[in-house]
Amino acid sequence: MNKIPVIIDCDPGTDDTMALILANKIENFDLLAVTTVAGNVICDYTFQNARNVLSYIGAEHVPVYKGAAKPMMRELKTAPHVHGVDGLAGVELPQSSAPVETEAAWDAIYRIAKEQNGELVLIAVGPMTNVALALTKYNDLPKYIKRIVIMGGAAIGGNVTPAAEFNIYVDPEAAELMFTSGIPIVMCGLDVTMKAYLTDAEIERIGSMGSKEAKLFHDVEQKALGFYRTLGMNYVAAHDPTAVLFASDDSIFTGEEAGVHVETKGKLTLGKTVTDLYSDAQFDDHFVFIVTDVDRDAFVKKVTQLMESYS
Ligand code: RIB
Ligand code: CA
Repeated sequence: MNKIPVIIDCDPGTDDTMALILANKIENFDLLAVTTVAGNVICDYTFQNARNVLSYIGAEHVPVYKGAAKPMMRELKTAPHVHGVDGLAGVELPQSSAPVETEAAWDAIYRIAKEQNGELVLIAVGPMTNVALALTKYNDLPKYIKRIVIMGGAAIGGNVTPAAEFNIYVDPEAAELMFTSGIPIVMCGLDVTMKAYLTDAEIERIGSMGSKEAKLFHDVEQKALGFYRTLGMNYVAAHDPTAVLFASDDSIFTGEEAGVHVETKGKLTLGKTVTDLYSDAQFDDHFVFIVTDVDRDAFVKKVTQLMESYS
């Protein structure tokens, strides 16, 4: 099987943790590295969480590279109400004994992209700060990245404000730099991730599979489930797993090519991914495939199968 060379850039984060647990079992992935960025929680926690999660699930061989401590031009905004202050919703893991990598995330992304001769797929499920810093430092990076699959944005709606999704809102300048890089982008925004949800019963079923990895998958989601229940929802959007599953096999998803740009000045609309998906007025550039729908039954079946492979 020709494996897909992958780097996951993330801000673990509870759904990032689900994404790492799933990615570790995806057969057509060659997970070359994980890079971490400040987002859900501060960068010290996202870095350590990624290291500890990978070691806990038997993937301590995957190097983790630490990235940006704050957005390019703004102060950091975190999401402790969903992920806890520590980023794992209070779940405690053994400290990883893997070697601590000292290469910066943006340098590792560029180095590995060149090593992969343009075949690298970058899955970015946190604020796009590391991606933007890599693009800023290495202006030939676009020719070495096949595509970037992101969890971020929304053609319609928002979560951190009515207009913006968290990953884009935290660093809108970085996101705009990524969208205008010329690299093909797949945007798994709220349009699809709110449809790619797992119910509390489905998460309970995973939690009862018996492996420690399945229990971790279940346990990290309990705080988020509690938060969503305050909104009247008995399910949790599997935001970051959506991007990972799309990168592996897009057959259960649908979407359309579109132009996307990010509002970086708006008072009410800061961080909005402005798309021409539903507009007669079209942007000149259409580098983005916006994912708009998913076969949720197939999604849940895939998640369940991957989690069963830990048993
Ligand atoms: O809006 C959801 C996104 O923001 C997810 O990636 C979550 O982990 C947070 O980073
Ligand atoms: Ca994330």
